[in-house]
Amino acid sequence: MKGKKDGVGIRAGQALWARDYRVAAAVLLGITCGVIWASLHPHGFFTSSKTASQTNFQGRGSQGQPSDGHVLLLEAKVSVLQSELVKLKTENKNLLLIKQQMQVAEQERDAARKQLLELGPPRKAGPWGTAKSLRTNQAVLPDESVNPDLAKLLQDVAINKELIVGISNNNVRSMLQVWFESIQRVGVTNYLVVALDDEIAQFCKDHKVPVYRRDATISKAQANTGDNHAISGLKFHLLREFLVLGYSVLLSDVDILYFQNPFSYLQRDCDVESMTDGYDNATAYGYDDVSDDQSMGWARYAHTMRIWVFNSGLFYIRPTVPSIELLDRVTDRLSKEKAWDQAVFNEELFYPSHPGYEGLHASRRVLDYLLFLNSKMVFKILRKQGNFAQYKPVTIHVNYHPDKYDRMVALIDYFVNGKTDALDRFPDGSEWPSNASR
Ligand SMILES: *[C@@H]1O[C@H](CO)[C@@H](O)[C@H](O)[C@H]1NC(C)=O
Repeated sequence: MKGKKDGVGIRAGQALWARDYRVAAAVLLGITCGVIWASLHPHGFFTSSKTASQTNFQGRGSQGQPSDGHVLLLEAKVSVLQSELVKLKTENKNLLLIKQQMQVAEQERDAARKQLLELGPPRKAGPWGTAKSLRTNQAVLPDESVNPDLAKLLQDVAINKELIVGISNNNVRSMLQVWFESIQRVGVTNYLVVALDDEIAQFCKDHKVPVYRRDATISKAQANTGDNHAISGLKFHLLREFLVLGYSVLLSDVDILYFQNPFSYLQRDCDVESMTDGYDNATAYGYDDVSDDQSMGWARYAHTMRIWVFNSGLFYIRPTVPSIELLDRVTDRLSKEKAWDQAVFNEELFYPSHPGYEGLHASRRVLDYLLFLNSKMVFKILRKQGNFAQYKPVTIHVNYHPDKYDRMVALIDYFVNGKTDALDRFPDGSEWPSNASR
């Protein structure tokens, strides 16, 4: 794939592959220079004083801190990305693709700059208001040996080393079709169905949908849970390989509809970027929920932090060590406990370290709840606004309602086919009690 074509008409993946090789070449050059330099100067940078060596990179390296190699890699990455940006700006073919490629490269360059600063020698904090910590963790070095077949497939499917992944078996075939048709309609090609049985794999092939056949091997602990906990747990397990191969994944349940290209709306600055179950600024982004205990008199009010959960049906996860640790922790817990995967996902992301427990240090971002809509937003709030037919969501997840398929079809009728009364027959919520699960 690499170097076959240069310039116009290039696929996004090709440019980034070429970039990886240039980074590798730059690093190799750096290491070679280092080796030559070291052989000429066997006593290192600081021969006169021992204390001096503790303040340079060598000192840091010997304390298990990042070594020269990391710094060289990042320096090379910044300069290669910088020249990549200059090059991209002069090309005007394939404008949309390139625009997105530029956005990703810009985000990567900014992250690499911050990583470089972080790895450098200790700095002073600087003036008030200028301190900014690192939240964009470095991507892992891809390891193709974990699954060469998948690695090969992803080379063809992914763009900018990212893709939508949906996991499906034959039970949700009709929803899956509405799902992938909505993705195809907005021109997204970097998506993949992980097919858990042969029927659904064949169905995908028949519809020219990129598919990866994977057996649903369920751990012993999960095998007896009897419901769909096992499949939900499997999701986190399957995702791991994609990350280890170096890809960012927008994990998507199949009860989600796409109305715009989601990759244009990602910040890519955190380990996990997730849609929310919240329905206003407070519930989506967090608020202070004051608890009242009158018996405490003067101190009757206690402040508590609240946030509506991240929805584990739609989240973008970058291939970093904290991300992979998150998947491992969720997979591990779901293999031992009978628990709801979404609850476990949130607990692992948010609970701090405490006695007997080490919290995960992953960075998190909530996607805009006015663009990545849940179905409570749609049916209870937004559709009552006069101009809802003109609304441009990025995605809608039918998570709050059990009649998923019907509502999905109606939403397509409403937004795509212009049937302005398509949503009218649906109540805001669902009948209670309902034994459907979301
Ligand atoms: C909600 O938050 C957004 C940005 O986070 C802000 O622009 C907007 O004004 C807020 N809306 C309300 C009603 O507070």
